[in-house]
Amino acid sequence: MKPFKFAVAGCGNIGKRHVAVLDAEPRAQVVAICDIEEEKASKLADLYGYFPCYTQYEHMLDETDADIIVVATPHALHAGMTIEACNRGFHVLVEKPMALTVADCMRMNEAAYKNEVKLWVVKQNRYNIPIRLAKEALEQQRLGKLLMVKCDVLWNRYQGYYNDSPWRGRLKEEGGALFTQVSHFIDLLIWWCGEVEEVSGYLDTQQHQIEIEDIGSAILRFNSGALCSLNWTTNVYNKNYEGSITLIGEKGTIKIGGKYLNKIEYWDVEGFPLQEGIAYTDKPNAYGKYQGTSSNHDKVVSAILDQLGKKGRDTVDGFEGMKSIQAIEKIYANIRKYATANYL
Ligand SMILES: NC(=O)c1ccc[n+]([C@@H]2O[C@H](COP(=O)([O-])OP(=O)(O)OC[C@H]3O[C@@H](n4cnc5c(N)ncnc54)[C@H](O)[C@@H]3O)[C@@H](O)[C@H]2O)c1
Repeated sequence: MKPFKFAVAGCGNIGKRHVAVLDAEPRAQVVAICDIEEEKASKLADLYGYFPCYTQYEHMLDETDADIIVVATPHALHAGMTIEACNRGFHVLVEKPMALTVADCMRMNEAAYKNEVKLWVVKQNRYNIPIRLAKEALEQQRLGKLLMVKCDVLWNRYQGYYNDSPWRGRLKEEGGALFTQVSHFIDLLIWWCGEVEEVSGYLDTQQHQIEIEDIGSAILRFNSGALCSLNWTTNVYNKNYEGSITLIGEKGTIKIGGKYLNKIEYWDVEGFPLQEGIAYTDKPNAYGKYQGTSSNHDKVVSAILDQLGKKGRDTVDGFEGMKSIQAIEKIYANIRKYATANYL
């Protein structure tokens, strides 16, 4: 079978990872890349040595014979670039967050539907080993009714992380930490607990010179009835401390922890013990001075290729991807009014 052709927009931290993953996947072929910073694209093209690079997205779309466009640019560009690619008949894999508003997500889904192309959103944490184990327990109703969930994203981002970027830390371009550091966690919470029905909480900007929050705490009630305390910060001293979700059900408790949901830290489930000898092999995305979340982008790509090859449907489409944006929009709408003085 001929490989599926990919063109990647954005050659920053995660664009590079996409190119590496696609280069290593025998069913995929990178046929073009683009970045408004010419050097970033040309360096990456030189590294792999076999694809053309562009500085203008539209120009790349005009010329490429790709099947799938990967959108790996800053958040605020996801909607426009996705819609443009769909309107020209390409399938799209867009990085998280799908967009910064639900209205944009709807426009993206409409463009994909109207043009009969596929739209997927990168949610690579769904493939983490501990997430798969917990999901299996939940699907088999092993925890009984889910009562309470606790989610902590306690990470470090140094001031230069924001200063060195034209979009990070800016309200219009980044939207808030829920879209960046917390969106994978929110995706999992709503995947498991249902829609967010009620929200209260607080935000603040304590340690960074930025327009968005660097700390937040929210209480959520899901339509399943489960209560959730969600705490997030980029203020942790020196390095990431924890990225965890604790599930408390009638018949069991599971804590998925580590720094980025990469370990089972506690498992006590009636009649459903944790398997022995699990190798926790999920790795983080490493970006020099800071670490992101799991690097299972290869599994995302593999799943969409399976789907295109009509072998599987283990993917996150635009409707599923929109759910976390709905939750984030609701959380911010409810708690921004209580934000403390430093925060806009
Ligand atoms: N799935 C994940 O865990 C994960 C991890 C990292 C980043 N991301 C997402 O990927 C996106 C990019 O993040 P990043 O860390 O790579 O950011 P980055 O700033 O390192 O890279 C973004 C790149 O896009 C380029 N760019 C900007 N405007 C462009 C345009 N109009 N056309 C082409 N290129 C353009 C920039 O020059 C830059 O090289 C963000 O939305 C982020 O949330 C997801």
